[in-house]
Amino acid sequence: MASLKEQIEQLTQEINAFAPASPADLEAYRMRFLSAKGLVKTLAQEIKNVPAEERKEAGMMLNGFKQLAEGRFAEFEHIAAAAAEAALPRTDVSMPGTPIPAGTRHPLRVVENEIVSIFEKIGFSVATGPEIEDDWHNFTSLNMPENHTARDMQDTFYVARNPDWVLRTHTSSVQARIMESTQVPVRVICPGRVYRNETISARAHCFFHQCEGLYIDKDVSFADLKQTLYYFVTEMFGPDTKVRFRPSYFPFTEPSAEMDISCTVCGGSGCGLCKHSGWVEILGCGMVHPNMLRNFGIDPEVYTGFAFGMGVERITQIKYQVNDLRLYSQNDVRFLRQFQKL
Ligand code: PHE
Repeated sequence: MASLKEQIEQLTQEINAFAPASPADLEAYRMRFLSAKGLVKTLAQEIKNVPAEERKEAGMMLNGFKQLAEGRFAEFEHIAAAAAEAALPRTDVSMPGTPIPAGTRHPLRVVENEIVSIFEKIGFSVATGPEIEDDWHNFTSLNMPENHTARDMQDTFYVARNPDWVLRTHTSSVQARIMESTQVPVRVICPGRVYRNETISARAHCFFHQCEGLYIDKDVSFADLKQTLYYFVTEMFGPDTKVRFRPSYFPFTEPSAEMDISCTVCGGSGCGLCKHSGWVEILGCGMVHPNMLRNFGIDPEVYTGFAFGMGVERITQIKYQVNDLRLYSQNDVRFLRQFQKL
């Protein structure tokens, strides 16, 4: 029988020549050399038959053999793992991605942005203010003292905790704050949500949105008001749009007017939108009341101004023929999806 040394030399050659062609080959190798009954263990047991003076050398050989057998196994395992990974399907990074459906802008926001940018082009800047407002900014300073009948025009929500607080009924309250905090001249547009205690229906809602404008300077006239609003409607609804002014009443303006535009749907011949009149009402306006200027320490003998206020829902209704106000707050994606993509 070959000596332990010879056996180790022979097996060392075998291991050095070994090249697994498959995982099964590698498993056979493991069984042959490294398992509980494998050659590394069985040869080690033979050391007891080696003469004492050769034991040290045999022990070192066994050790080297064990390290070789295990080292080669680890090496092949590593190569096999890399090969298995290389065989996995590759990710093609040049493939187009899975699209994430984008939302749309809310139609009221689309229209509000458009209104604001039309006025920004002629030098108006945007001003905003609180939705919970005090009586002074929402009513009294706007020439509507307590018990003034004009307060009944707007069905107000009062804040139970404090009778002086209301949910603002119009964004004229922002104009009041601007007059209070900035020096004339002022030229601002005030977009925002307002609240009125109305029964919800297709044509009324307890909250809606306004864009109100204010311009105060020396020598501002009603002609400036008309021209400014005419510019606005031709930008918003097209160059063929006609306007007309009807006298009206607002406590904070004098004279006051309501402005109509020629019906954008039928062009004036009569349809459901204009109730067969050819005209649709779009906003209220007027020259700032001297009392209001005085309330903010502005001398009405030196300064004059105009103000106007429009409902964003109304403009949107005309622009997109939305015939039910409730649609704006129902979050029905079939409705919302029809508007500007993000
Ligand atoms: N604040 C008025 C409203 O809410 C609109 C308006 C603003 C009218 C400015 C005239 C001048 O109805």
